[in-house]
Amino acid sequence: MPEATFHFPSDFVWGCATAAHQVEGHNSNNDWWAWEQVEDHVEDGRRSGLACDWWARAEEDLARAAELGQTGHRLSVEWSRIEPAEGRFDTAALDRYREILRAARTLGIEPLVTLHHFTLPLWLAEMGGWEHPRAVPLFDRYVAHVVEALGEFCDFWCTINEPNVVVSLGHIAGIFPPGQRGFGAAMKAGRSMMRAHAAAYRRIHALQPPARVGFAHNMRILDPANRRSPLDRWAAGLQDRFFNQTFLTAVDRGWWQLPLGFGPALRLRKTLDWVGLNYYTRDLVAFDRHRPEEMFGRRSHKEEAELLDGGYGEFYPQGMGRCLRRLAPLGLPIYITENGIPDDDDDQRPRYLLTHLYQVWETIQHNYPIMGYYHWSLVDNFEWAKGWTLRFGLIEVDPDSQARTPRRSAYLYRDICRANAITPAMIDEYAPELRAELLPG
Ligand code: FCB
Repeated sequence: MPEATFHFPSDFVWGCATAAHQVEGHNSNNDWWAWEQVEDHVEDGRRSGLACDWWARAEEDLARAAELGQTGHRLSVEWSRIEPAEGRFDTAALDRYREILRAARTLGIEPLVTLHHFTLPLWLAEMGGWEHPRAVPLFDRYVAHVVEALGEFCDFWCTINEPNVVVSLGHIAGIFPPGQRGFGAAMKAGRSMMRAHAAAYRRIHALQPPARVGFAHNMRILDPANRRSPLDRWAAGLQDRFFNQTFLTAVDRGWWQLPLGFGPALRLRKTLDWVGLNYYTRDLVAFDRHRPEEMFGRRSHKEEAELLDGGYGEFYPQGMGRCLRRLAPLGLPIYITENGIPDDDDDQRPRYLLTHLYQVWETIQHNYPIMGYYHWSLVDNFEWAKGWTLRFGLIEVDPDSQARTPRRSAYLYRDICRANAITPAMIDEYAPELRAELLPG
């Protein structure tokens, strides 16, 4: 009997994901740029700077992606370039994005454009960002300009990237801008982002009826450190409901359900054509009464767990399947809008790719509507508060010389994209230690 080959559906999209601020360079007019200038905000003290120089050279990396067999690319557009001052729209910036999207399509790469990926224009941040009462209409107007200008080359939109991460890291943990530490303001910002999502959904469909509009939701597996401990289970459940569920319930049911009660109803129902999953890792949660600000949970990992670089979490492929199954009740097409690993020397990434994609494949076998996978990321890039310490690229980038060097994983991913499958030969070549797990018998 020939050995199993894991085939993906014929129209499955294979690509990578990037975000404007992390790759474009010199995005000096947004809140993240200002944040980076303050000592201790970025782990290695380095700034986004020229990043990967995409404002000038995006096409070169997109051509590399095409050569590597990719058929889709998720990128974001930068609000602060498009609307550098309130109400002033920069047609040259929009033209540059038109050029990039046109080039992607010419290369056979279907763009998925994110309208907000973590950064706010400085002028809006200075007004109070997402908490400002006009943030939603301002976002709506910006979206209208983008769709009018770029709609010729794109009909696949992601409104907002990871509102739960913005709220958790920017408004509760205070390690992303705006650097707040308070639950009340955080909830206000979160609601505003979801309203902005809904406004964008309606605006895009009004301007471009066949558009496909979704948002990218970060999910992290949060399991109790000790399953037998009711307190650990309670704390893990609380963190899980807040981080993984609140924003999904908001778009699914239309109300804002907090872990400990209900919030106001929002006009959010029916504002998704698809849902995006950003999955990376798992943490274990132990009850800790000294951490009310972290919902009484302390994050940890089992001693024997395989960890990712830089304390990023645990190598936990089963989490991919668990998250996909959890999204299924929404009844929507699912895209994996991000999944990847910080791994400078590429010793774990081949295994990470194969095991996580195996989970995707397995879930598809149970008829879950999973339509595509965007690996984070094509190139090493500016990793927010971690600076350049974490290297997520299939292609290594030296930010000083701008030299590119594909890692081994780039070729593994190329082989998967081209074959639209995981084959035994790939397992043997890139991660033979997985043979027993993936090809039993
Ligand atoms: C996600 C972000 C993305 C990148 C990866 C590693 O949470 O959306 O920009 O930083 O993590």
